[in-house]
Amino acid sequence: MYKLENITKRFNGQQVLKGASLAVGEKEMISIMGKSGAGKSTLLGVMAGLIKPDGGKIIFQDQDITSLDEEGLAVFRLKHIGIVFQDFKLIPSLSVFDNVLLGIHPRRDVSKQEKARRIHALAEEVGLQDKLQEQVDNLSGGEKQRVAIARSLVNGPTVVLADEPTGNLDEKTAGTILDLFDRLHQHLSTAFIIVTHDKDIAQRTQKIYSLQEGMLLCT
Ligand SMILES: Nc1ncnc2c1ncn2[C@@H]1O[C@H](COP(=O)(O)OP(=O)(O)OP(=O)(O)O)[C@@H](O)[C@H]1O
Ligand SMILES: [Mg+2]
Repeated sequence: MYKLENITKRFNGQQVLKGASLAVGEKEMISIMGKSGAGKSTLLGVMAGLIKPDGGKIIFQDQDITSLDEEGLAVFRLKHIGIVFQDFKLIPSLSVFDNVLLGIHPRRDVSKQEKARRIHALAEEVGLQDKLQEQVDNLSGGEKQRVAIARSLVNGPTVVLADEPTGNLDEKTAGTILDLFDRLHQHLSTAFIIVTHDKDIAQRTQKIYSLQEGMLLCT
């Protein structure tokens, strides 16, 4: 479904990715580990179509992503990609409902009722049905990440890219977020790619990759 072939990327003379290759199947759940600075976030940025690689190919469902222009990439992201960040990237002064609502792409032709229906269903899925009107500021870290996960799913993506999604959470809460990913993975036809420093988290996924020297090894 998702194939990276020999991806290279350098920043200011620093060669970060040196030929990273990866194949992700439909509905797979994998993790990517690697030292700080190894290029994990860069790799996710490339996979999301947010960072243009210098070389190599990205094939997504038989479509060559590397040949798309900005407009084509925007459409690709909207249709296929959900992103979850370590620091949630929510708007603290807004409610849970409004934060998830903001994840629905404005160009999407979706009625107000359909948006509300979808947000309620996702809130239920992530266990926040009673907190929809709560201001995000008042939530715990684990709850905030649940909001961010709901937002990442609101356009029905093919794949969710999660960059250290448990990095700001204590061990127990991190476990509950992984439980949630597991459950979502079972319910939805979405693939999950999780970047993590945590071996215990990685071990819960189907495959563990390690980013070393700019290349991906399946461990
Ligand atoms: N936009 C950029 N401009 C210049 N250098 C960059 C840029 N983005 C990343 N880098 C450099 O590329 C290297 C890899 O960064 P990246 O953020 O991908 O690492 P990482 O594996 O995600 O690290 P961490 O575990 O700390 O999040 C780092 O040395 C970083 O400084
Ligand atoms: Mg990073």
